Amino acid sequence: MEASTAAAAREGLHRLSEFHRRQYGSRWSDLQAALVRPVSHVARLNRAGNIDRSRSRLLDAYPDAERVHELGDNVEAYRLPADPDATTPVPRDFAPPPRCEVTGLLDYYLMDPSSILAALALNVQPGDTVLDLCAAPGGKALILAEQLDGRGHIQANERASGRQSRLQRVMIDYLPERIRHKGVRVTGLDGTRARALGKEQYSKILVDAPCSSDRHVLMDLDELAVWSPTRIRANSKRQIQLLWAAAQALKPGGTVVYSTCALSDMENDDVVRTIIKRSGGTLSVDSTCPSWFAEPTECGFIALPDRSGFGPLYFARLVKSPGNSFRFDSSDSSDSDDSDQAEAKEDVADD
Ligand SMILES: C[S@@+](CC[C@H](N)C(=O)[O-])C[C@H]1O[C@@H](n2cnc3c(N)ncnc32)[C@H](O)[C@@H]1O
Repeated sequence: MEASTAAAAREGLHRLSEFHRRQYGSRWSDLQAALVRPVSHVARLNRAGNIDRSRSRLLDAYPDAERVHELGDNVEAYRLPADPDATTPVPRDFAPPPRCEVTGLLDYYLMDPSSILAALALNVQPGDTVLDLCAAPGGKALILAEQLDGRGHIQANERASGRQSRLQRVMIDYLPERIRHKGVRVTGLDGTRARALGKEQYSKILVDAPCSSDRHVLMDLDELAVWSPTRIRANSKRQIQLLWAAAQALKPGGTVVYSTCALSDMENDDVVRTIIKRSGGTLSVDSTCPSWFAEPTECGFIALPDRSGFGPLYFARLVKSPGNSFRFDSSDSSDSDDSDQAEAKEDVADD
């Protein structure tokens, strides 16, 4: 590595640290140290496949795997033994999940349990019409699809074409054809465009927004070298566009969950506050969702790895009052294409 890149990365790290220290104060040092440790994923069993076979194959391969009971009865997930030699933040060393010889589906999906919490916060019920606005690679969309239990529809949307192909692959790998054909649609819309989504079409919407992915930035010297608060501001602007488009696409009485893997309030509570204000009170926060290890914030919850070992992941649940709707924004938010120009590097987080 060139000395100039290392020096630029050191300066970037200083800028990033100073920025987050303003919010996290003396906690920042512990948080920063936890962010560069290997991620603790769990293996979430595929309920749409043959869960009994999947369970026994997983426990044969990892006899020490422990069930995570805190996620409730409807999610069966196992902590896999940590790899003491792991040097990357992502557990690349785990073998890919086996494929069931009968159903052809993969046995489990590796993910951070805080991502499972965010998906569960949407409280999808059979019969719902669900939109996952930023869906690739698809870990949360799979949970939402499972909760529909074959009744209702989910539209898994992803704007980036390469990631859309990956999303499509995940749906094929994990969901039986009868469910996919009847109840799952993969689309490639720009989620900031309210008109493309349609007015008040969905009863439940997940906005798992592209964000600053601080954990990934900290692990990447090139990313660190160019880091500045401008990136956070650009992301925040795009997140507001996405959540506002979702708010317009939500049926009265519906629920929207907003989530990110960012640390800054500017990408989390501030986005939620902006949208609530813009909705004129039609949207309000509902914090009654299960939060387990996630810490409460003003509008939602955040899982942080220094205290929980999981995350970072922020999520907030908003409900739209029944019988109340607002007019379509005549200035469809990304008509100016601002969001593309301001777009930070595409999110690399997997879930
Ligand atoms: C945090 S990731 C989503 C992770 C996903 N929900 C999961 O659980 O696997 C955010 C995704 O939003 C996509 N994205 C970015 N801008 C978008 C837009 N305007 N409309 C739709 N998707 C967008 C990114 O390409 C990225 O795949």
